[in-house]
Amino acid sequence: MNKEDGGVNAVAVEALTKVYGGKPVVDGVSFTVREGEFFGILGPNGAGKTTTLEMMEGLRKADGGSVSLLGASPHPRNTSLLPRIGVQLQSSAFFERLTAKEQLVTFGALYGVEADRVDDVLALVGLTEEAHTREDKLSGGQRQRLSIACALVHDPELLFLDEPTASLDPQARRNLWDVLRGIKDRGKTIVYTTHYIEEAERLCDRIAILDHGQVIAMDTPDALVRDLDTRVSMDLPQGVLSLDEVRSLPDVQDVREEGSKICFTATDTNAVMHVLSERGDAGHLQTRTASLEDVFLELTGREYRS
Ligand SMILES: Nc1ncnc2c1ncn2[C@@H]1O[C@H](COP(=O)(O)OP(=O)(O)OP(=O)(O)O)[C@@H](O)[C@H]1O
Ligand SMILES: [Mg+2]
Repeated sequence: MNKEDGGVNAVAVEALTKVYGGKPVVDGVSFTVREGEFFGILGPNGAGKTTTLEMMEGLRKADGGSVSLLGASPHPRNTSLLPRIGVQLQSSAFFERLTAKEQLVTFGALYGVEADRVDDVLALVGLTEEAHTREDKLSGGQRQRLSIACALVHDPELLFLDEPTASLDPQARRNLWDVLRGIKDRGKTIVYTTHYIEEAERLCDRIAILDHGQVIAMDTPDALVRDLDTRVSMDLPQGVLSLDEVRSLPDVQDVREEGSKICFTATDTNAVMHVLSERGDAGHLQTRTASLEDVFLELTGREYRS
């Protein structure tokens, strides 16, 4: 295994490429994931997340570049890697007519997993009460959790999850975040895809933002936002200052009325605050700090549409 930044790499992807119909849909993607890291691949629909992940999992053949998982190549199919990695696909397939528990027992049997382990995994993903429910009678969110349980049943050290929280209600998504954090706390490495910016920001140690098959930014969520040389969005309720007064504030741009507010941007929040405090109006100022959406906008010139 190669080492970088003092940590051990669980995954190393180098110049990975996939071409469909003469068009590169994954176009020279490179990154490493350290052991124990929660690594997110974030990007809008069609960005190439699933294609990248499935080449990493050894399920699709790359047209160029290389993948190393735990020091070995996943393609052609590498049976020595299989017990060490867990894979959840974007569209999960289950054995027909089996209950949640039977699904796990069946998947587990492929890896020689003890029956006790199945109950633990059901509990881990919050499906204990549904253990004897047939898979086709589960709700969408419960099926999603069952597919994660199937990826986890053999206790792999490296877990790949393709949009595990898609189509879950807010409560189920939060529950799943707890499950994923719990898996990370047990020292597992997680590579996951999502198109939810806010979720990636909360869960991931590092994020690669993928767009049109290319990594356009990669770092910790904080660093991605910190490095952004963006103006801070601010607003004041109407009636506090006139439009002209707002325009005369230091380093203010993009002044406009939006409903009951006057909105503007500035680079130096403190200078604006200073002037407003002297007038006794500072309490009215609302600021919105930069987010990963701003990173995307800055890099691509267009809004992020998940
Ligand atoms: N088997 C295939 N044959 C031809 N084109 C494909 C194939 N698989 C994916 N593509 C194309 O590659 C591009 C990337 O697809 P991919 O499924 O990797 O995107 P994604 O980021 O996972 O999107 P989503 O968020 O919708 O899951 C898309 O334009 C898609 O149409
Ligand atoms: Mg996908």
